[in-house]
Amino acid sequence: MAIFNLGSINIDLVYQVPHLPKPGETLSALAFSQGLGGKGANQSVAAARAGASCIHIGATGPGSEWLLALMSDYGVDTGSVTQLDEPTGHAVINVDPEAENSIVIYPGANRQITGAMVEVALARAVAGDSLLLQNETSAQQEAAALARARGMRVVYSAAPFDLAAVRSVLGHVSLLVMNEGEAAELRAAEGQLPAVDCIITRGANGAEWISAETEPLFMPSFRVEPVDTTGAGDTFIGTLVAALDLGLDRSSAMRRAAAASALQVTRPGAAQAIPAAAEVTAFLAAQGA
Ligand code: RIB
Repeated sequence: MAIFNLGSINIDLVYQVPHLPKPGETLSALAFSQGLGGKGANQSVAAARAGASCIHIGATGPGSEWLLALMSDYGVDTGSVTQLDEPTGHAVINVDPEAENSIVIYPGANRQITGAMVEVALARAVAGDSLLLQNETSAQQEAAALARARGMRVVYSAAPFDLAAVRSVLGHVSLLVMNEGEAAELRAAEGQLPAVDCIITRGANGAEWISAETEPLFMPSFRVEPVDTTGAGDTFIGTLVAALDLGLDRSSAMRRAAAASALQVTRPGAAQAIPAAAEVTAFLAAQGA
């Protein structure tokens, strides 16, 4: 089967800082680097590196050929990425010595994707394929509705969290993925979690798959020394959906996702830090898992 991903493509501008800046503070960075990011691109790279066939649906602006070349090198099909005159999206990311981050995004071309662009891309999709969505692009609602009508699995990452965005797609979603902060916001707004399968990620404290049909499934995190947690959640989701697409059961898929994100946080950067399937397999073998 195949994974289609309507997702952002960002230039990540990464600053190593002695601490995350306080309001009104001017801070001198210790180091700077630039790389491929965006929750969408990171998830596509994770899915492709995990061995799935992944088609990215997105948009970039002038001068972004290097981003698309990187995505292709990682195995992502970029044939459904449209070149626009809008600037490519970018993210300003501060990373502190404890590997925590704070991120500001400028959406640019990511918010100029139209329903028509998505419709052309999804014309190739068949029942049983998957659609990934996050909240960094336009056309999410159109994409979710089209995908569900085609019998696809629709996986929505509620990040960056926006209640209206979640509500606009929820009727079409098969699997909703949130971190614990996002889940708390949704619970506070709705009184309870929605009646669809939900995965709640808790960083070093593991992840839980909650389903109305079966017992909750908890997957602990692997203990590692993180240097940069940027893109860890994206790695988890892309790896998980790839594993499900390749036929693994929920528990095995969650284990591979936990292993991939554990490896990813031990390296700097977002997409560039995502491990290949063989590395994940070796890591799991070394853990006796
Ligand atoms: O989830 C991490 C990503 O969020 C970064 O790569 C950045 O581009 C923002 O989209």
